[in-house]
Amino acid sequence: MRTPIIAGNWKMNNTIKEGLDLIEDLKSKELDSNVEKVVCIPFTLLKDLKDKLKGTDIKLGAQNMHWEDSGAYTGEVSPIMLKEIGVDYVIIGHSERRQYFCETDETVNKKIKSAIKHDIKPILCVGESLEDREKGKEKEIVKSQIEKALEDVENIETLVVAYEPIWAIGTGKTASSDQANDMIHFIRKTIWSLYGDTSDQIRIQYGGSVKPDNIVELMAKSDIDGALVGGASLKAEDFMDLINFKNGG
Ligand code: PGA
Repeated sequence: MRTPIIAGNWKMNNTIKEGLDLIEDLKSKELDSNVEKVVCIPFTLLKDLKDKLKGTDIKLGAQNMHWEDSGAYTGEVSPIMLKEIGVDYVIIGHSERRQYFCETDETVNKKIKSAIKHDIKPILCVGESLEDREKGKEKEIVKSQIEKALEDVENIETLVVAYEPIWAIGTGKTASSDQANDMIHFIRKTIWSLYGDTSDQIRIQYGGSVKPDNIVELMAKSDIDGALVGGASLKAEDFMDLINFKNGG
């Protein structure tokens, strides 16, 4: 049985003060202890929020990292630096990074290997564009993203995959729960073809305009193990409702 995982992706939002206030608010709420919760936050907030999250079961995540341990890579942050703070998860290959920051399947692959080596759990994002879907190419694209991201990767047990169709991110257009489930089932089959039964342990989330009013339907689907949430993770009340989806969202 896979533990459901709800992860917030704050993107480039929240100052330290705003982030601390949001977590303070979240800490005051009753959250389902059988759901794994993660907040993936900007680098500048990691240290303060790590301290703030002490004594809670909310895990800390970053939104990107470099694959090298150190070196002349101006502006980058290494896995060792993240590990020093106590980061548990890192988002790798978010479509916004692929689109705006030249992230490629090759760099995604290097980052996945490095994260696993440093014992940081990767949340690997994949997903097709609207154009890909209109051409009926969504499965081909996602399969290729998965195969390239996982090329020569070992020990994938801690990997989390987030299926995020680009056309559903921040647009208010959610994939239907059937579309999401169908693709997530396909992703598990793809991972199975590479790793056999280990694929049963891999949690696969849906992401893209997840809100309190659609989480219940999504989580009721056979293959969806959680959600990666942007906008709705910025309000403690909404994030609480997503975590507590078993109570009806
Ligand atoms: P959204 O973002 O929930 O605001 O659509 C999801 C994501 O980009 O991870």
